[in-house]
Amino acid sequence: MRKSGPHKNRWKIILALISLVIILPITLLVIDITFNFQHSFDLPFEKLAASNNPAIIARGEYLAYGPARCADCHGDVNQRDAIGAGEKVALSGGFFEEIFLGTVRFPNITPDKETGIGRLSDDQVTRFMRTGINHRGEFGLPFMNYQRLSDTDLVAILSFLRAQTPVKNRVEPTDYNFLGKLALAYFIKPEIPPPAFPDSLPRTASTEYGRYLAEAMGSCRECHTHRSLKTGAYLGEFYAGGMQFEHPKEPELNLVSPSLLPDSITGKVAGLTKEEFVERMQAGQFLSWSPMPWGPFSRMTKEDIEALYIYLSSLKPAG
Ligand code: HEC
Ligand code: HEC
Repeated sequence: MRKSGPHKNRWKIILALISLVIILPITLLVIDITFNFQHSFDLPFEKLAASNNPAIIARGEYLAYGPARCADCHGDVNQRDAIGAGEKVALSGGFFEEIFLGTVRFPNITPDKETGIGRLSDDQVTRFMRTGINHRGEFGLPFMNYQRLSDTDLVAILSFLRAQTPVKNRVEPTDYNFLGKLALAYFIKPEIPPPAFPDSLPRTASTEYGRYLAEAMGSCRECHTHRSLKTGAYLGEFYAGGMQFEHPKEPELNLVSPSLLPDSITGKVAGLTKEEFVERMQAGQFLSWSPMPWGPFSRMTKEDIEALYIYLSSLKPAG
């Protein structure tokens, strides 16, 4: 006779209920994260249209291959060295980066209708540049930082994008792993874009124009500040350096971005005269594995580099 029978059964039922209470919600959550991670968003943004005025297109081309460095991420994957040397390669994409949230792929942004941005409307492109919400209405990882471009420069870049020769090159979309899907489902959300820089800013070697180049185009602060490699959160003083970059193969070659503050002990700019800084920026990369977009930056005009120097020299020394 099995005396303990009914007892055993009761425990089985209790265990089954407990597992149901715990496992069912977890399963539903996993299913939700896996299939619904990409929500659709919309945010207000200004409507701007491309122009076919050659002077406007030329300005856009200068920005895309220079201070705004689009080529650094969207350049033709087969021309890595040419990009590093600052050459004007087609923006046909194909590079990818493995990060802990998945494989980020850099798309083809030439006007090809099938594989590039030929089918995107002006509104879709400008909304993406201002808010990070892509043409499918989805918000991804914040790789691009051009929300504060002046309207004039955003139109110039858009007009140049339209004027490029189309190149057929299919690039698969970014592939998020489970952690990436979890982050997109619950933690990464678009925000109302910060105000754009004014159109009235004169393009001269001034503090304000240098700040515009550094903040709205060159992302100098994004790399030259100590930040968390997991969340991107700022941990140190702006421009005081300290962000770590891993070498893809050899950890002893890892890099740390230097300080750009006007501090003669640690700062990389303070020790240089304006002329020496221009020379350094135009000389391009010394280390082939440097993550700094030396190629595009080396194409900047002397006036633009001087503006950066004046701006960086105006910052408060490290405290
Ligand atoms: C640091 C790398 C990086 C730089 C620099 C960069 N991009 Fe991107 N760009 C990306 C990534 C990653 C995506 C894919 C984003 C996604 O699908 O959510 C992307 C996507 C795009 C798209 C497609 C949006 C869509 O709706 O599919 C356009 C257009 C674009 N970038 C334009 C530019 C322009 C113009 C510049 C220069 C002013 C630029 N990018 C500079 C990384 C970069
Ligand atoms: C993607 C990250 C990244 C961006 C964006 C970036 N830098 Fe850097 N920068 C680095 C790293 C890493 C180094 C150290 C390795 C090297 O010198 O190449 C560096 C080095 C430097 C140096 C020292 C060069 C030397 O020879 O000692 C200067 C000056 C500099 N950056 C200025 C700037 C300015 C100005 C901007 C914006 C217009 C900028 N950087 C944007 C990552 C970046």
